[in-house]
Amino acid sequence: MPASRTEAELSGVAREAMDCAYAPYSAFRVGVALEAADGRVFTGCNVENAAYPVTICAEQVALGTAVAAGARQFRRIVVATAAESPTAPCGMCRQALAEFGLDLEIVAVTEAGARDAWSLRELLPERFTLGEIG
Ligand code: THU
Repeated sequence: MPASRTEAELSGVAREAMDCAYAPYSAFRVGVALEAADGRVFTGCNVENAAYPVTICAEQVALGTAVAAGARQFRRIVVATAAESPTAPCGMCRQALAEFGLDLEIVAVTEAGARDAWSLRELLPERFTLGEIG
């Protein structure tokens, strides 16, 4: 199994991604580093839109990029914000990530260095499925 990056490295990547956030409406910038099981790291930032619901969360940008590159197994996601306290992914992002397994480690960090961590199983014990199909 390829070596995992250190959390400090991934946090740095997530903070860099946060600098690319397009958030003129909320001014709430989010950057993520999503580490795949094969060691690749995919980044994402939130991309807002004047039609507010069109906004894409940082987690979903990274997940879409990863899947488009052929990755479907993930170890860890680091979510960076400039908020005062670490922020867990929203419900929609939890569902999106859960599509690829609940054994994902979620780490949230702030610019100032605060940190929190959960497993996705902890944050979303039951994902929506289509039963036999999904
Ligand atoms: N946002 C994310 O990027 N990820 C989340 O998990 C929750 C919220 C973004 C969406 C919007 O651009 C801003 O944060 C404020 O909601």
